[in-house]
Amino acid sequence: MTSQPNETSENQEVQFSDEEHLIWKLLYDQQINEVKKYASKEFLSGLEILDLPSDNIPALAHLNSAITPNTGWKTVRTDVRYTDAVPWYNHFNRKEFLVTNYLRSKEELEFTPEPDMFHDIFGHLPFMTLPHYTELQEMFAPAFLRANDAQRENIKRLAWYSTEFGLIIENNERKLFGTGLISSSGEMSHVLSGNTPIEKFTIDNVTLNEKAIYNYNGILFEFDSIDSLKIELSSYFDKI
Ligand SMILES: [Fe+2]
Repeated sequence: MTSQPNETSENQEVQFSDEEHLIWKLLYDQQINEVKKYASKEFLSGLEILDLPSDNIPALAHLNSAITPNTGWKTVRTDVRYTDAVPWYNHFNRKEFLVTNYLRSKEELEFTPEPDMFHDIFGHLPFMTLPHYTELQEMFAPAFLRANDAQRENIKRLAWYSTEFGLIIENNERKLFGTGLISSSGEMSHVLSGNTPIEKFTIDNVTLNEKAIYNYNGILFEFDSIDSLKIELSSYFDKI
């Protein structure tokens, strides 16, 4: 397995500028009350475990001290701004979650087409403290790495519309589950105001739809629980 050429070691803490810490604070303040109202209870339980600082970019050591003892995963920083799927899933296969060093600018507080450090840390990492969630993440890499090109495209769509942009029903209420919704106030309010059609998450429904990277998604999908999502994904992954 190969590593990205510019990747930094997981032991190396990166120094960020005052401006970057300030952007983190603005993003955190913008999202925290919204996620408490609208995000999945799974996310909120992980957020409590992760105990993120509100006013500065957290160090990897802090993140890993909450993640690794709970799930065996660890975070690894990378200088790569958008890691390709194969190296990404190779890291996933080793239970390494890549966190980019890139942070959006002040002009992009509501939406960035490029996943940034706030998306990676605030959106994804609370979930990565929860074993029944990391079991879900651990389904993707083995399937992706043995899949053919067409199946790989389907797996990317299934990941996109579940862990990145999925919705979950909890106590008869629709909650935000996808990390791309949780970390983007723009797309979050777009979805919450009913502007996005939402269908049931099934393999057939989801794989018909390309990923919407540069705009808000034109359609999203919902599932009843992490367990039902796992069952649906297994029905496809097991055949690969
Ligand atoms: Fe993501």
